[in-house]
Amino acid sequence: MEFDFTALEAQSRYRLLTNFIGPRPIALVTTRSEAGHNNAAPMSFFNVFSHDPPIVVLGIQPRLSGEEKDTTANIRRTGEFAINMVDMTISQHMLVCGLGFDSEVDELSMAGLTATPCKQIDASYAAESPCVFECRVERLIEYPRRTLVLGEVVHMHVHRECMDAEGHYVDPERYQPIARLHADNYVTSDRQFVLKAPPITDFIKPQGK
Ligand SMILES: Cc1cc2nc3c(=O)[nH]c(=O)nc-3n(C[C@H](O)[C@H](O)[C@H](O)COP(=O)(O)O)c2cc1C
Repeated sequence: MEFDFTALEAQSRYRLLTNFIGPRPIALVTTRSEAGHNNAAPMSFFNVFSHDPPIVVLGIQPRLSGEEKDTTANIRRTGEFAINMVDMTISQHMLVCGLGFDSEVDELSMAGLTATPCKQIDASYAAESPCVFECRVERLIEYPRRTLVLGEVVHMHVHRECMDAEGHYVDPERYQPIARLHADNYVTSDRQFVLKAPPITDFIKPQGK
């Protein structure tokens, strides 16, 4: 089948993009509300795009009413947010944070997660999250139906057991984030394998030989 994206309506573009571009990691994004409460919302339009500078990107839609989501409003006002990575242990908690609570509801507390003050930004993170990145807004890119938030990572928290003995690399047995496929379908990274590329000389002869 072929789809001409320049002629498709927005809902079909959304369906095809989210059905076929996956799995997408999930950021449980925590921010501070104007009244000082914790806000938390899951975002699967999320990934890392640069290490120097260290940049992550979120894609946040407005609500169906056209109103801005609390996460966007808080990020716009404070310029700060934390990315809480999600594993199986907090997958149900993450879903609770995604429900349409009023702006002043503390979603971390509603979901039964432990709010812990961030180190370098004014927000809290979930102590249960295996890995958290504190971010400051680098820039916002505005589209009529989506705000792209580019955030610079300024601090990382990671549960000790998610790293190897030297604290350099991830321990894939212990750090197993979940990711979103289409609709309510998710995967967990519990089946990992090593894939090594063959040497390029298997395909082209070295010069001069
Ligand atoms: C797994 C998952 C992923 C989601 N990803 C996004 C996303 O990438 N962008 C978005 O705008 N909403 C996304 N949502 C919906 C928001 O989490 C939801 O609208 C939430 O209520 C927004 O809360 P807020 O008003 O506190 O910001 C997602 C929901 C779930 C459950």
